[in-house]
Amino acid sequence: MIIYAAKDYEEMSKKAAQIMAAQITLKPNSVLGLATGSTPVGMYRHLTEWNHAGELDFSQVSSVNLDEYRGLSGENDQSYRYFMNTNLFDHVNIDKARTFVPDGLAEDADAACADYNEIICSMGGIDMQLLGIGGNGHIGFNEPADAFAQGTHIVDLTESTIQANARFFESMDDVPKQAITMGVGNIMSADKILLVASGEAKAEALYNSLYGPVTPQVPASILQFHKNVMIVADEAALRIIREKGLI
Ligand code: F6R
Repeated sequence: MIIYAAKDYEEMSKKAAQIMAAQITLKPNSVLGLATGSTPVGMYRHLTEWNHAGELDFSQVSSVNLDEYRGLSGENDQSYRYFMNTNLFDHVNIDKARTFVPDGLAEDADAACADYNEIICSMGGIDMQLLGIGGNGHIGFNEPADAFAQGTHIVDLTESTIQANARFFESMDDVPKQAITMGVGNIMSADKILLVASGEAKAEALYNSLYGPVTPQVPASILQFHKNVMIVADEAALRIIREKGLI
């Protein structure tokens, strides 16, 4: 595990983008595992800028995203497909036919999960998986649980998540109640993992994940068992790790 300390969100974003860009430069046909959320937005902006400057070519890249809400189409501005299009795919020369996000509209959820595992497998696995981290240590939609989930699966969103999301929708009926997510097993089988974290709200989860016991109650703690994990975090997110003299 390597920890790259950045002074703030901007420096974190640039460092993470440099690592992802290095991956694409070294292996132009890389399979990237991608994440949504607020943390990678700055990183995607840098990748876009370098693509526009002619310094980074996405033409052979493929991607698989971690997760998607169930019941939302890719046109819905709350969907993760929409997020990826607007934050990255629409702005770089990636072939969108080779960008995969779990199918939020699939009627047969089990088949959709099996299909997604198959997609990852048929691409030859993930070269570099990008992760954010939840304040409770979640990765993808793998929330604290009694066991680590292996493959892509359906999760019921907690009541607090449903309530928090309600403001983005016209009625309560429209708010997603479930999501489809890669499992911890899918994530762990990536060749390299790049985890980005910013802000004080992540400090405890980051410390527990990297230095606490490995437990499904802190899903990101499993990363301690991965052979090639890079963490790019800003000083606010690293506060506890720094205070304990671990870096
Ligand atoms: C996103 C995802 C989530 C986020 C995490 C952190 O695809 O799967 O696990 O990475 O919730 O979100 P932000 O970056 O918004 O703090």
